[in-house]
Amino acid sequence: QNGIQVAIDGPASAGKSTVAKLVAKRFNYVYCDTGAMYRVVTLAALQQGIAMDGTKQIADLARQVKISFKPGDPEQRVFLNGEEVTTAIRQGEIDNNVSAVAAIPAVRQEMTNQQRQIAQTGGIVMDGRDIGSTVLPNAPVKIFMVATAHERARRRYVENKEKGIATASLAELQHEIELRDQKDSSRKVSPLVQAPDAIRLDTTKLTIDEVVDKISDIIKKTL
Ligand code: C5P
Repeated sequence: QNGIQVAIDGPASAGKSTVAKLVAKRFNYVYCDTGAMYRVVTLAALQQGIAMDGTKQIADLARQVKISFKPGDPEQRVFLNGEEVTTAIRQGEIDNNVSAVAAIPAVRQEMTNQQRQIAQTGGIVMDGRDIGSTVLPNAPVKIFMVATAHERARRRYVENKEKGIATASLAELQHEIELRDQKDSSRKVSPLVQAPDAIRLDTTKLTIDEVVDKISDIIKKTL
């Protein structure tokens, strides 16, 4: 198979998935949103009434549920045991509980295995928190995308409105984003951290197209 592995990591709402999708399209690579996978496990746990501190139960659930995407789906729909959950996993309740689920080592082990499986396909753009550091440590292109918390909250606010998702206020969103970053950065297993060989990209003042162009140039130089 042609193509290389492109790892895009960074804090919440830095624009990773928007950009990763467009980069994947440009190179005709598969796109994998690993955050969506942790969100699906969180949704399944909430649906089943499992408490967020039920580590063993959540780990078992992570191994049982079937998380699926359709390759090349332009809408990037996400399925939990065959049922579409694309919008359901973007609710505030998931935002506020997903970091606890993602901190469970056995959950990470299972998701990491599945992600490595998906990356076997060849050309892939995978976004998340630990792709360059843990999931695909040999990826030839690693990007660490950052932006100020204020700008990230603003983007999330606009996105929620556009998608018709009930949204908290801008100030609340910024607080939630900072809290989630702090949890993701301080967990013991695969915390959010810039891999030593990753290229840091501050997108605060860049447009989506500018970011896509920058990453595309980096990929072309690596091919
Ligand atoms: O990228 P997104 O904001 O959808 O990710 C949701 C959550 O999933 C993150 O806040 C983090 O707790 C977790 N996550 C992770 N490792 C990844 C991707 C996401 O821990 N590779």
